[in-house]
Amino acid sequence: MFLRKSLGLAVALLGAASAHAGRPPELAGFERGRAVWLGTCQLCHAEPATGAPQLGDAEAWAPRAAQGKAVLYQHALEGFMGPLGDEMPARGANPALSDDEVKAAVDYMVRAAQPVKP
Ligand code: HEC
Repeated sequence: MFLRKSLGLAVALLGAASAHAGRPPELAGFERGRAVWLGTCQLCHAEPATGAPQLGDAEAWAPRAAQGKAVLYQHALEGFMGPLGDEMPARGANPALSDDEVKAAVDYMVRAAQPVKP
């Protein structure tokens, strides 16, 4: 009984491991971006009072995304002052983040604001 249970668990774990290995790379980037977002960006991008465009707010993100990724990356990395005086601090005020981490978090927010495809 116990043996059968642990065998089942081992098979389940193996299955999970191989499913992980077979993941498309863009999903790995998405998860990385989400982790960075949870650790740093959500402080403002899940707090409307800050004036930051909120996660999943398609209306707020559409004109920003229309600027192109290069501009969004630059504003996230170097900081940006909006027309209403709301400040996006460089790297979300977390200098420990690498360029790639900041970019992954930008990608995550841009993607999260897109309508879900059926
Ligand atoms: C201290 C608050 C704060 C934190 C933390 C923060 N942001 Fe922002 N962010 C803002 C505000 C405010 C704006 C909107 C500025 C404006 O346009 O008025 C903004 C705007 C942006 C924009 C849009 C820039 C544009 O050109 O329209 C991007 C991209 C962005 N943030 C990325 C990030 C990422 C990635 C992180 C985490 C690494 C992060 N932010 C963390 C406050 C913050």
